[in-house]
Amino acid sequence: MLQELFSLSGQVALVTGASRGFGLEIAKLFVEAGATVVLNGRYRDTLEEAAKSVGGKVDIAAFDVADTRVSTAAVAEIERKHGKLDILVNNAGTNIRKPLAEVTLQDWQTVIDTNLTGAFALARAAVLGMAERRHGRIINVGSVLSILGRANIAAYTASKHGIAGFTKSFAAELGASGVTCNAIAPGYFETELNRPLLDDPAFVAFVNQRTPLRRWGKPHELAGAALFLASPAGSYVNGHVLAVDGGLTTTV
Ligand SMILES: NC(=O)c1ccc[n+]([C@@H]2O[C@H](COP(=O)([O-])OP(=O)(O)OC[C@H]3O[C@@H](n4cnc5c(N)ncnc54)[C@H](OP(=O)(O)O)[C@@H]3O)[C@@H](O)[C@H]2O)c1
Repeated sequence: MLQELFSLSGQVALVTGASRGFGLEIAKLFVEAGATVVLNGRYRDTLEEAAKSVGGKVDIAAFDVADTRVSTAAVAEIERKHGKLDILVNNAGTNIRKPLAEVTLQDWQTVIDTNLTGAFALARAAVLGMAERRHGRIINVGSVLSILGRANIAAYTASKHGIAGFTKSFAAELGASGVTCNAIAPGYFETELNRPLLDDPAFVAFVNQRTPLRRWGKPHELAGAALFLASPAGSYVNGHVLAVDGGLTTTV
């Protein structure tokens, strides 16, 4: 019973941004739970290395999520090759940290195209088949910046608020088709994305002090939330933004 509750046996999942960080940890756990997992990132060689580290039933699909024409075609190719796509984890993301006066419109566009438009386009492409099959799970990786604001990252904050917004809208529209759509809002984790923050002792201490658990998260600590939302255990959870942040957003 317990095993069935968290089983992804027979499921096909696409995890974007799976060459490292959260995406790689989620892919490893999904494979362990019985899924066939397609790893996405921009570079074939890094994906091949990541696939080796995952082992089991994995495939790779190298594309830039910001290129919506290519990403939409990739969903069709996965459905052709694997027969279906049950789970999409929109995890690929980027950030450009700059004071407002230095942010260019190109910086804004790059972050919005990758984090928001890329996720939307993939989700829209994936839900068509899911709705036909009357089963599917969309899991969008937002951030505590889906809820809060911070200086120097306006585009990132806008993109992550947008993730929370379209998650709720998709949930409302697709529930009747048997497709759920949820988001995860991670706090501060030790990944490459946060390298500049981790190299700043004052910021490391600020996060430790601000977070009720008094520490940064480890990448593997996010994967369980994704498995919950993808598996039968999460079957009645829809339109939720699940904070995995050590309690950060519960305090001011
Ligand atoms: N770490 C945190 O504390 C934290 C907190 C809140 C939210 N998040 C969110 O969690 C997600 C994963 O972050 P992470 O911390 O694991 O970051 P990470 O270690 O930097 O990994 C980012 C992943 O995204 C891929 N990627 C970046 N741009 C891409 C693009 N245009 N197309 C396809 N793949 C792309 C990267 O692969 P390649 O470079 O090989 O293409 C890599 O696999 C992001 O959405 C991030 O905003 C992270």
